[in-house]
Amino acid sequence: MLGGVNDIAAEKRAAADAALAELPARGVIGLGTGSTAAFFLEALALRVRSGASYVGVPTSKASRALAERLGIPLLDDVGPWSIDVTVDGADEVSDALDVIKGGGGAHTREKIVNAASRKNVIIVDATKRSRLLGERRAIPLEVLRFGLGSTLQRLATRGTPQVRTSADGTPVLTDAGNVLVDLVTGPLLDPRPLDAALRAVPGVVETGLFISRADVLIVSPPLAVFRRQ
Ligand code: A5P
Repeated sequence: MLGGVNDIAAEKRAAADAALAELPARGVIGLGTGSTAAFFLEALALRVRSGASYVGVPTSKASRALAERLGIPLLDDVGPWSIDVTVDGADEVSDALDVIKGGGGAHTREKIVNAASRKNVIIVDATKRSRLLGERRAIPLEVLRFGLGSTLQRLATRGTPQVRTSADGTPVLTDAGNVLVDLVTGPLLDPRPLDAALRAVPGVVETGLFISRADVLIVSPPLAVFRRQ
């Protein structure tokens, strides 16, 4: 049973360290965003300092800044990239290896990097697992500010949309300057049609639903590796 913050951090680090076994001996690595991905960046930086030849593609300004501080060589933000493996965290992971991402608002860049990767590895502590997506988390959506009121009306037919705000009440913005909307849906038997419907709403840039996008899931505790069949 996971107790305190320190326990959870240790399990995130365990999952992140285990992801090193999924990397080729050298190559292009997609760098996820969030606290679990940060542990992976630290582990990767140790490899780089020992002479391994890796170059990263960061999924956010925060991950780029961290990777630069750690001395990981990086490609630019434009590409095209040919990414061998991307390692990223998640907010919720179902038994079907489908994923909700975007708790940190980086899911659009994360999905672009995911789509450009030959293998995608998701690393989580065990608190992120659920039977069905939506049991634990709302679905993050990146949404244009223009027409936000109308977009919210449309989204309300699919769940309860909530504009994400900071402690001072101002909207949280993505790296691209867009608004984040968290759509509360409850458990989803089949998230794929909902993902398609949400992406068809004008004003929605991208959803945090990552369906059939994880090839490998590493969870801790107990440390376990699951592979998409
Ligand atoms: C960033 O937008 C997210 O997709 C993160 O990957 C996700 O929120 C996991 O973050 P933690 O590892 O900090 O829980």
